[in-house]
Formats: sequence, C-alpha cells, structure tokens
Amino acid sequence: EAKIIKVDKQNIDPEVMRQAGSIIRMGGLVAFPTETVYGLGADARQKDAAARIYAAKGRPSDNPLIVHIAEFQALRAIVSEVPEKAVRLAETFWPGPLTMILNKNQEIPYETTGGLDTVAVRMPDHPVALTLIREGGGYIAAPSANTSGRPSPTMAEHVMEDLGDKIELIIDGGPVGIGIESTIVDMTVEPPMILRPGYINRDMLEAVIGTVEEDKSLLGDDPDIKPKAPGMKYRHYAPKADMMIVEGSEAAVIAKINELIRKDKSAKIGVIATDETKARYIGADVKSIGSRREEISISRNLYRILREFDREEVSSIYSEAFELPELGQAVMNRLLKAAGYHVINVKNEIKLRNYR
Ligand code: TXA
Ligand code: MG
Repeated sequence: EAKIIKVDKQNIDPEVMRQAGSIIRMGGLVAFPTETVYGLGADARQKDAAARIYAAKGRPSDNPLIVHIAEFQALRAIVSEVPEKAVRLAETFWPGPLTMILNKNQEIPYETTGGLDTVAVRMPDHPVALTLIREGGGYIAAPSANTSGRPSPTMAEHVMEDLGDKIELIIDGGPVGIGIESTIVDMTVEPPMILRPGYINRDMLEAVIGTVEEDKSLLGDDPDIKPKAPGMKYRHYAPKADMMIVEGSEAAVIAKINELIRKDKSAKIGVIATDETKARYIGADVKSIGSRREEISISRNLYRILREFDREEVSSIYSEAFELPELGQAVMNRLLKAAGYHVINVKNEIKLRNYR
C-alpha cells in the first residue's frame, strides 16, 4: 500500500521531498502533483525505471513518456539540438502546460521514449513537482498517474484508487489547477505541429512562433487518420457507462437530453451539465462540471466527474458539448474520446454523427 503524504505547496516540507527524491534516485516510483494532472514519476535516465512505470499503469511499452525538467539547461543536456522556436516557446510558456518533442541524444534511453529517436520534454508549473525533479536528479519521466485507459488523476485520491497497491509514495498536493494534460507540440517538423491539444492553444503558440499546424487526427472525423502521438490512439478516458455527447443550441440540447433520459431504461442515468443548466434536467443524476463563464472550471472538473460516475455505477451518461472559445478543442478532445465519439447534433433536424 502506497504512503500518501500531504505537502502544502506554499510551504513545502524539505525532508519529505528529500525522501521522495531518494526513492526516485534508487529507481522507485513516486506519484506527484503538477498543474495539469498527477504524474507517476521515475528517473528518466534509468532503463528499468521506465519498465516499472509501464508495469504499474498496465501501459503498452510503445507509448513514450514525457521527461519533466526543472531548469532550461536540463533540456540542452538530453536533446541533440534546441531549435530557435523551441527556445522562444520555453521562454514564454515554461514552467507551464506545454510539452515539446525534440530529437533526443544518448542521455535518455529508448525504454523512456518507447523506442523513438525523439523525446517529449516539459517543465511543469508546480512547486512540488519542480522540487521533486531537483531532488530526484533532474529528469523525471512521468505519464499521468492513472491505470491505462482510466481518466487521468486530478486528485491524490484518484492515484490511490488506481495505483495504491503498486507504488511506494503518493505526494498529495491537493486538487490540480488545469485538469487536462499538457499541450504536446512536435518541434522536429516545420512548421511545428500540435499532437495533443491542451490549455496552451494554437493561437497562443502562433503568437510566439508563427504558423503551427495540427495533427489531422485531432479533427476526429476520419478513422483512417492515425494520431502521431502514440498515446493518442488508445481509447483513453473511458468511463464504464455508455456515453453520448449532445451538441446544438442550449435549449435544443436540454430538450434532447431530457427526451433521451425519458426513453432510457437504465437503472442509473448521469448527466454532465453546467452551473447554468443543471437545474433543467429531470430524472437523472445531474453533475455540474463548472460554469461556461469560467472555462478553466470545466477542464478542472472533467476527469473527477467521469470517475464519480464510474464509482456510482451509472450505466449511461449524457453530456452537453463544450465549444468554449479557448479551451474548447482541448476539452472536446477528451470528452469525445470518453464518449467513444458518440455525438448527437441537434440543430434543426436530428443527425447522428460518428466522429470516428
Ligand atoms: O500534462 C501532462 O503532460 C501529464 C503530466 C503528468 O505532466 N503527463 C502526461 O503523460 O499526460 P502521458 O504519458 O499520459 O501522455 C504522454 C503523451 C502520450 O500520448 C505519448 O504518446 C506522447 O505524449 N509522447 C511522448 N513522447 C512522444 C514522442 N517522442 N513523440 C510523440 N509523442 C510522444
Ligand atoms: Mg495519460
């Protein structure tokens, strides 16, 4: 059983962090908070450490890990070159929820990169994560700290639920701020390409380095286009229930979901609504994901709500769509995967659109 130790990010206990760092140095696993989701950390330079991460998560070993660093100089030590655009993105967004793919050098073993010649690197914006990286030797490979195929953990309790009997230590830094994983940008191609959408969106990147492309698979409407990030091809974030997203005008969505609830014979039905709409559904367990006026509240609560519906053994979930101006693509990417791309579009006529 993992030990859970609470650490106040305003007042970090250095002794706890030294102990956690020594577990990493000795090849062990420590789960820790970042600003996006909780990570499952191991020393990125130890071959066996990566294997332990894959085993704990039940993750396919062709799915590469992100290397977390605490200083910019550490980037130069593990990649063959740092392109000028990567320097500018790092200056603007690090520490922060941005992961860059670069060509690796021999410091990082193939076990960490799933056999690839490139490595994903990010500097998280969380004092506990940064302290752990420094205490652990400077390079922590960390995927999200969930069992493969479950929603990423946004609280220490989620890590305990999934990995409690498989790892030594969980550092509890409270709930995370962003709630969805970092934006991944491939800097080895020109123009650079977004492989996974996140809080740092395309407009924000283009304001710093000019044109940025998006992996075509992110549009999600062509099953023959395979994602370029190996991990994006798996059905992530899958709740146990059948899930359906309903998109359209607010009134049409509410009417449609209420109609679906009436027809649904499942014992337990869940609805993902917002503060603005939650009172308008009848006959289901309605959870508000947050306010449409505060986009970040929606990303922050998404995975927690999916886990709650799992725990309550809800058998069908209807969710509103979230076409938000800034975080919309990142949130919808996760929601669509959770729903297995089941979407009903209610504009005027009712049309079933299967995104995959
Ligand atoms: O916010 C985050 O990025 C969190 C926190 C813990 O930092 N980490 C995270 O890691 O989401 P993970 O392992 O769950 O997702 C890493 C993604 C996978 O889709 C993987 O395929 C992709 O990054 N990836 C890693 N290295 C890559 C590479 N060299 N080329 C292409 N994709 C890569
Ligand atoms: Mg993950």
